[in-house]
Amino acid sequence: MMICHCNGLSDKDIHAAMDWMRAADPDTIITPGKVFRALGRKTDCAGCLPLFLETMQKNPNLEVPVLTSVGARRMRQVR
Ligand code: FES
Repeated sequence: MMICHCNGLSDKDIHAAMDWMRAADPDTIITPGKVFRALGRKTDCAGCLPLFLETMQKNPNLEVPVLTSVGARRMRQVR
C-alpha cells in the first residue's frame, strides 16, 4: 500500500527499512526521520506522517528489545 506519495514509499519499503535498521543496530531508536534517511528520502509535505507512524507501529521491530539481567550480563561478557 502506498504510504508516502511525495516519495513513492510503500508500507513494504518502510517495514524493510525498519527490519534492516533493527538488524544493523539492536539498540537503535527508530524514528520516521531515520526511516526516511535509510531509504534515501526526505519528508516533503509531511501529509503522510500519521499513516507513516501507523505503519511503523505495526512493525514488531519498532521497540528496542528489553534486556533481562541475564541478557545484559551476556552482553557485557561479549564486549
Ligand atoms: S506524502 Fe510523504 S512527504 Fe508528502
